[in-house]
Amino acid sequence: MDSFSSNDRLSTETSMQPPRRRRRIIVAFTGATGSILGIKTLLALRRLNIETHLVISKWAEATIKYETDYTIPNIRALADHVYNINDMSAPIASGSFRVDGMVVVPCSVKTLASINSGICDDLISRAADVVLKERRKLVLAVRETPLSVIHLQNMLSVSQAGAIIFPPVPAFYVKPSSVDDLVDHSVGRMLDLFDLDTGDFDRWEGWKKPGR
Ligand SMILES: Cc1cc2nc3c(=O)[nH]c(=O)nc-3n(C[C@H](O)[C@H](O)[C@H](O)COP(=O)(O)O)c2cc1C
Repeated sequence: MDSFSSNDRLSTETSMQPPRRRRRIIVAFTGATGSILGIKTLLALRRLNIETHLVISKWAEATIKYETDYTIPNIRALADHVYNINDMSAPIASGSFRVDGMVVVPCSVKTLASINSGICDDLISRAADVVLKERRKLVLAVRETPLSVIHLQNMLSVSQAGAIIFPPVPAFYVKPSSVDDLVDHSVGRMLDLFDLDTGDFDRWEGWKKPGR
């Protein structure tokens, strides 16, 4: 007779499982305007105890310096792991390194095109390519206006490959009193896509009576 009951077998199988790791998200900054969106994304993920893997492109560094008071070391310090844009030996360049998803925020149309072409000529487009092939979530906060047919075709094509296009379009129904409010709303809605609630913005609950 089998000396193990089915419950014993179940608990043995369960104990063989490795301990659950923290959720991991790759955050990539590119040289589109709106670097504060990426910074606030990193801050929110840190607060939510998500393990972050950060890559910053050369032109993202330039826009961060121009648009914000943050230094690059300040921003690097917000992430758990930081990689050089040219380091193709980084863990996130391989599908065997498990991640839960990736967000490119802000995403330039150059990086959009690069991801769509599958060229993988830097760590951001390589990591995005890996996330798509491994069927993980890829969110691209593409920022450009107006949009040419080339941009629109690239967005359609990466969407068909599984990416989510999330242009950081402001929502005025939140009645923002500052740019910060608009940024918090965009970052909050973007992280909703990963089932993460920043708690940093008011959700729509129907019309409110005037004066309330
Ligand atoms: C101040 C500034 C703002 C820019 N804004 C945008 C933008 O909103 N969208 C975009 O696609 N490119 C923008 N660019 C151009 C990109 O930085 C450029 O195409 C760069 O090669 C992108 O490379 P990367 O995707 O590797 O960061 C901007 C450049 C500068 C200097």
